[in-house]
Amino acid sequence: MFADVAPQTLLIDPVSVAALITPRTRAVVAVDYAGQPCDYDTLRRLCDAHGLALIADACHAIGGSYHNQRVGTIADLSTFSFHPVKHITTGEGGAITTRNAEWATKMRHFRNHGITTDHRQRAEKGSFFYEMVDLGYNYRLTDIQAALGISQLQKLPGWITRRQQIAAAYDHAFAAQPAVAPLHVAPDVEHAYHLYVVQFDLAQLTVDRAAIFAALREAGLGVQVHYIPVHFHPYYRQRFGYGPGLCPRAEAAYERIVSLPIFPAMDDDDVQRVIDTVGTVVARCCRV
Ligand SMILES: Cc1ncc(COP(=O)(O)O)c(C=O)c1O
Repeated sequence: MFADVAPQTLLIDPVSVAALITPRTRAVVAVDYAGQPCDYDTLRRLCDAHGLALIADACHAIGGSYHNQRVGTIADLSTFSFHPVKHITTGEGGAITTRNAEWATKMRHFRNHGITTDHRQRAEKGSFFYEMVDLGYNYRLTDIQAALGISQLQKLPGWITRRQQIAAAYDHAFAAQPAVAPLHVAPDVEHAYHLYVVQFDLAQLTVDRAAIFAALREAGLGVQVHYIPVHFHPYYRQRFGYGPGLCPRAEAAYERIVSLPIFPAMDDDDVQRVIDTVGTVVARCCRV
């Protein structure tokens, strides 16, 4: 079941989660949308009260933190993606962090055909012995990918700093634009800014998001929309009967959001060009 989001952060709303918990619920999966960690104190209390696992989809938030806890150490399981569009990449692949040794062993087996040892562990023990104890797959990251990931990790802090600088420049510029609302950032979190998302106040504009998107693209900005609500996709509609109305706040946000360019190689002129272009497009579409 999908819980709705809080309208200003677009992070999962613990009140919506609480209303959906049933005896069949096993876990809460929270997405650190755009790079901001979710409200983990509240989610943790909820999960503990109901005996649920707390899973963080931290794919956007690598390098961030929440109440002085690094992303990856907060939930029972935290997942990371190293897809090329993410902060750091291994071409494809990802990682999961957990403090639960039993789950870690299970996941190591699962990524390795359900086999208890890999070739390196066997070599260390000087033994040929291994056992297949479970059904698993080949989800291993190659050594070459891992080497790339390790070198990328060293660059991560500098890249996040640059993303935060760009976000600060956008925040400052859009504070003077009533029709453009950046997402709210909660106190005491470090936002990793995988995305910089704004919500357009359509009541102040003469056009819809599609027209704004087209105008920004036309002006040369590589804007995007993250995301189409998951429950709108045919799989969820056909398999579970989901559709519009399930998560009204996420659906309303979907009509208003645009992700602006943000990546560490942007220089100050690039950032200013984005700010100016958004300003020009909004001025053209403003009601007054
Ligand atoms: C929030 C989030 N979770 C999960 C994924 C999936 O990552 P991967 O394709 O590496 O499995 C993505 C990828 O875009 C993502 O943005």
